[in-house]
Amino acid sequence: MEGRILAANWKMNPATKEEAIRLAGEIDDLLSELPLVRLLFPPFVYIPLLKIRNLTLGAQDVFYEEKGAFTGEISPPMLLSVGAKWVIVGHSERRNVIGESDEVIRRKAEAALKAGLKVIYCVGEKLEDREAGRHFAVVENQLSYVPVSEDLVVAYEPVWAIGTGRNASPEQIEEMHAFIKERTGLKVLYGGSVKAHNAGELARVPNVDGFLVGGASLKPEEFRKIGEALAG
Ligand code: 13P
Repeated sequence: MEGRILAANWKMNPATKEEAIRLAGEIDDLLSELPLVRLLFPPFVYIPLLKIRNLTLGAQDVFYEEKGAFTGEISPPMLLSVGAKWVIVGHSERRNVIGESDEVIRRKAEAALKAGLKVIYCVGEKLEDREAGRHFAVVENQLSYVPVSEDLVVAYEPVWAIGTGRNASPEQIEEMHAFIKERTGLKVLYGGSVKAHNAGELARVPNVDGFLVGGASLKPEEFRKIGEALAG
């Protein structure tokens, strides 16, 4: 995987397929020239509808079985068959809202890799962990479940920085990314309130191999500015 990675995680947005098609088209055009690995993670149902040329599509989650009686789940081969090449696993909203365990996340990552998908594996501590000085221990435990593969990158997303407008400081990011790289040898993306106004500063932090962007990835012009900052 050559180059820095810019990934748009749309989460459960936008509300309609028309809006998704329009938004994806705009982002596709605005980012076409940037020398980055450009990834778009829309909700599952929009994946087969988005005809884009300059971005690679992925899914925000996946199940670890190939087929069978698993109501509501989506398998790695299903994702591949509708054009997804990547998947996010272990996002903090799946860990903390849906209640996924490290073991489940590990199984999802392994199944996705085995099927030929590339993986963004999310880790990150909660505010109470950081305040108690446990952030390295928490992340180290999460990392112990990560299947190391050249097709997998880690995303460090401190839970207290997601959707809060409060990003981690350059020092906090640099030291945690160094910690993750030392243990895994993998690329590390940063995620958590990456916006146009802070992307330049965050892009210069050593050990940042890209961004995983939530809210700002729904605003094409702002997302492009983030991409320009990352491309340098
Ligand atoms: P925000 O950029 O909205 O803080 O979300 C970050 C995130 O969770 C990306 O996966």
